[in-house]
Amino acid sequence: MSTIILGIETSCDDTAAAVLVDGKLRANVVSQQLEHETYGGVIPELASRAHVERIIPVVETALAKANIDKKDLTAVAYTQGPGLLGSLLVGNSFSKSLAVALDIPLIAVHHMQAHLLVHFIDDAFPTPSFPFLGLTVSGGHTQLVKVSDPNSFDILGETLDDAAGEAFDKTGKMLGLPYPSGPIMDRYAAKGSPCFTFGKPVVSGLDFSFSGLKTSVLYFLREQQDKDPNFIQANLYDLCASIQKAIVTILNEKVNAALLQTGLKQLVLGGGVSANSGLRKALEKAEATVFLPPLPYTTDNAAMIAMTGYLKYMTQQVESLASEPNPRMSI
Ligand code: KG4
Ligand code: ZN
Repeated sequence: MSTIILGIETSCDDTAAAVLVDGKLRANVVSQQLEHETYGGVIPELASRAHVERIIPVVETALAKANIDKKDLTAVAYTQGPGLLGSLLVGNSFSKSLAVALDIPLIAVHHMQAHLLVHFIDDAFPTPSFPFLGLTVSGGHTQLVKVSDPNSFDILGETLDDAAGEAFDKTGKMLGLPYPSGPIMDRYAAKGSPCFTFGKPVVSGLDFSFSGLKTSVLYFLREQQDKDPNFIQANLYDLCASIQKAIVTILNEKVNAALLQTGLKQLVLGGGVSANSGLRKALEKAEATVFLPPLPYTTDNAAMIAMTGYLKYMTQQVESLASEPNPRMSI
């Protein structure tokens, strides 16, 4: 009999559902909430209301696309955390209700673990083997982790302040770019040259820091705009290329140090910032086999939740129905 997992992702501003049959992806549906764009960031109250409106149609669409009847589901996996509490609660309540109604197991998934374990989807892309070095880079996280098996994640280093995605989004805002500015900065960087340099953080070990870069960009822009109010417009592409290079350099140096320190030979990337073309190019030179997620799997999706759920189901890691969302869940 097949193992059929329904994955539900509602940690931030994407309502997503996916169906995985014996490790193979049958449907992957994401409804992006565009209503936050005008506010320059995600508004938690709007996000949770939008999840409530969308969760049922998104799940129904995923089941229909996969040609699966809900009574045939083996288990339901949902994002337990980290994320926005109101958003997580929608996925949690929906998944619990479905598990009770269908009398099937409930599986709680860590969002950042899922960003790394998405690489195990059978038919999607090359699959790493355990153990490997994971780099999670998203809007809320930047971590280097040693992943020894699907349930064993050891943090080797993490950001002491902003996440890499935040560094893109906050400096992008200074340049007048809309939220989230990471993807736009990536596109503009390709048209410019990294001719401006910003102060590099001095952080020991494998931890990261991005807040100094943010301040350095702020002061630099203020100084230049005092001389030329049109400085940003006139140098937008070069500024994007320079900021991107600074962020990528910070990440690249720590990744190489971690590979050297641990002796791990495989590097697996996950999270929104893993879509960044500068980062992908820089890491190609790393002393390891590098696993980059295909672009649709870099940002939030439920395929990664279903895959992690599948691996947990196979190792009996199921939750009790008392399972609660955990906005600050650690990896
Ligand atoms: O993983 P994700 O979709 O959501 C979180 O869990 O946070 O990551 C979103 C982050 C945002 O900060 C966004 O600006 C960044 O990923 N991002 C990028 C790119 N695509 C998304 N940053 C740099 N370059 C990109 N191409
Ligand atoms: Zn994410």
